[in-house]
Amino acid sequence: MIILGIETTCDETGAAILQMKNGRITILSNVVASSAPLQAKYGGVIPEQAAREQIRSIIPVIDAAISNFKFQISNLNAIAVSQGPGLIGSLLVGVETAKTLSLIWKKPLIPVNHLIGHFYANWIERESSVKSQESSEKKSRLSTLATSHLPQFPCLGLLVSGGHTDLVLFTNHGKYKYLGGTRDDAAGECFDKCARLLGLPYPGGPEISKLAEKGKDIYKLPRPMINDGWDFSFSGLKTAVASTFKESKPTLKVECNLAASIEAAIVDVLVIKTIRAAQKYKVEQIIVAGGVAANEKLVRKLKVQSEKLKVKLHNPPPNLCTDNAAMIAAAAFFQKPIADPLKLQADPNLSLAS
Ligand code: KG4
Ligand code: ZN
Repeated sequence: MIILGIETTCDETGAAILQMKNGRITILSNVVASSAPLQAKYGGVIPEQAAREQIRSIIPVIDAAISNFKFQISNLNAIAVSQGPGLIGSLLVGVETAKTLSLIWKKPLIPVNHLIGHFYANWIERESSVKSQESSEKKSRLSTLATSHLPQFPCLGLLVSGGHTDLVLFTNHGKYKYLGGTRDDAAGECFDKCARLLGLPYPGGPEISKLAEKGKDIYKLPRPMINDGWDFSFSGLKTAVASTFKESKPTLKVECNLAASIEAAIVDVLVIKTIRAAQKYKVEQIIVAGGVAANEKLVRKLKVQSEKLKVKLHNPPPNLCTDNAAMIAAAAFFQKPIADPLKLQADPNLSLAS
């Protein structure tokens, strides 16, 4: 089965072609164009500008995804698109393009919740595992072996992106219980807003991380809601950073130490709550997803703590953590097409909480 995925929820325009064979999902082609460098000039995403860039990029990006790979439209089984959540102007570009292609190419259309899509980056085969699986498959011919390294249910999902911080308990494909999420800023948003306070460009997460390498966690910033349920709150942390920064002399050393303290505070909250949820729900697998899952410290700490519990951690490679269409196509392999593609509506408020 071959699916073309389309992603346009925010400032990334993505198109990808993925194949599922013997339960293994591989990328045949994956193209992402980002307007982030343009947004960086303004310190964040301006929705109208992001939508305009989506219009400019969508056809060239789909075209590139198709021509990167010797691909016949007749081999395509379905089209998948991010239905939401996201910026309405950006979303409309992807959804209307997908509807049009579905109509003219006569292909089924599969709407995907962007947040669920993020988790499915964990179901995509890595280059190296594809090669080693291929050789072991030749020897054993066991297709169960080929998928044993993929996430298994039940598993705990932690989604950490620019707009979301969610803890979800998955019992099967399409079956999950929402445990909690942020009450104000998301983890990525906190990175972005703190970066802005320090005068760093957007997106702030990688910038804070880079500075943090040269600093120490000396400021002992608050770890909001660390002991309270499964919800998160990061806006107080941002306020604490603002007042600490105001009170300090703006030297490079101060900035590096503050960056290390910000990163440590966000990572601590995410790791401690995720591990506690894994213990409470007795899961043997954790899947992390979203742009902030590209953070090396977060992944390293989660790995150490989950190994102590004998829980397996799955995390996507950095290029599949941030927005991309490969994850949308991957999720679509486990979903059904919409009965009438032309009735599909972009939904900027789609969420995981029911
Ligand atoms: O998932 P994503 O690409 O877009 C949304 O769906 O929101 O996430 C973007 C977020 C931004 O807030 C960005 O600062 C953050 O992910 N991010 C990181 C890193 N790379 C991206 N945060 C911390 N460390 C990183 N290495
Ligand atoms: Zn996203």
